[in-house]
Amino acid sequence: MAIQWFPGHMNVTKKAILERIKDIDVVIELLDARLPGSSANPMLAEMTGTRRKLKVLNKQDLADPERTEAWLAWYSAQSDTAAIALDAGDTAPAQRLIKACRELAPNRGGMDKPLRVLICGIPNVGKSTLLNTLVGKKAAKTGDEAGVTRIEQRINLASDFYLFDTPGMLWPKILVEQSGYHLAGSGAVGRNAYDEEEVALELLHRLKGPYAQLLAARYKLTLPLADIPGAHDDALLEEIGRRRGAVMAGGRVNLQKAAEIVINDFRSAILGRITLETPPEFEAWVAEAQVREEKLQAERAARNQKRKSDRSPRVLGSAPADDSDDLED
Ligand code: G4P
Repeated sequence: MAIQWFPGHMNVTKKAILERIKDIDVVIELLDARLPGSSANPMLAEMTGTRRKLKVLNKQDLADPERTEAWLAWYSAQSDTAAIALDAGDTAPAQRLIKACRELAPNRGGMDKPLRVLICGIPNVGKSTLLNTLVGKKAAKTGDEAGVTRIEQRINLASDFYLFDTPGMLWPKILVEQSGYHLAGSGAVGRNAYDEEEVALELLHRLKGPYAQLLAARYKLTLPLADIPGAHDDALLEEIGRRRGAVMAGGRVNLQKAAEIVINDFRSAILGRITLETPPEFEAWVAEAQVREEKLQAERAARNQKRKSDRSPRVLGSAPADDSDDLED
């Protein structure tokens, strides 16, 4: 697994969420519309349990609209969950957020029962941008509240609608291998946590099927369009490097440079509007990862067991422990 990072203030953020969650009616999870499944923090799902949820597919302007619709439908089919898509260009995100939250918790509202909403998301998902738009002129951003963890801020979107912000949080161990690459590709993890070539190869692997046309158009590939989905990822990266002039003395392609080009073109959507995963794909990856993880854990347990039994002292000539009654004389 190529993606490794230190998840920063994860424990502090986790504690703050756990403290606050007791009084929360709705949890907004901000997701990256280009990688909705991979940008969902599995730790958050554990922490928020049965709370009502609003999934916000942010940066929809960069994502494939058809796939965004599929994800919205997938989330909306889950119990106590609603989903909307947003982007920084949305001029009235507050109205849509407030409406969706109120529909999820119709029993809350009015000054004596304000709707209390927690907003969470991974780093770089666009939370600050969204909050800045939400805060605008109307909403009041309060300072730290007494008795509330300092890292948390409350924004009053309406007199009876409180939004509690949390810092962007990643989780320590990514079980779904593809998710690590997608998070790196999106810019959610720092540059020194991954190998750009590996990330670019995985991006090309995801793109060459559904988005072959976009690759062909952007890089003016010499390969016939019909052959792109079956092309080897390494060959594609090399061809892209060559087409974009990432060539070193002696004619060899500078694969590092080619990888940077692919990653930047994906991030900036110069390639086009792309979503790296569909709900069925993501479900299959999660299932595979679970099987892999269970196998690993079983192997680890067996190794530990063996190590223990290898270490346990043996007294030559002594009887096995459960025969100890026989040792009396
Ligand atoms: P964070 O608080 O969740 O960490 O994310 P932040 O708002 O800082 O946004 C991260 C990057 O994503 C910023 O770009 C921001 O402009 C961009 N962004 C946020 N929302 C959207 C969106 O809906 N659509 C698009 N296309 N981009 C969005 P940056 O290059 O890091 O900084 P900047 O120079 O653009 O400010």
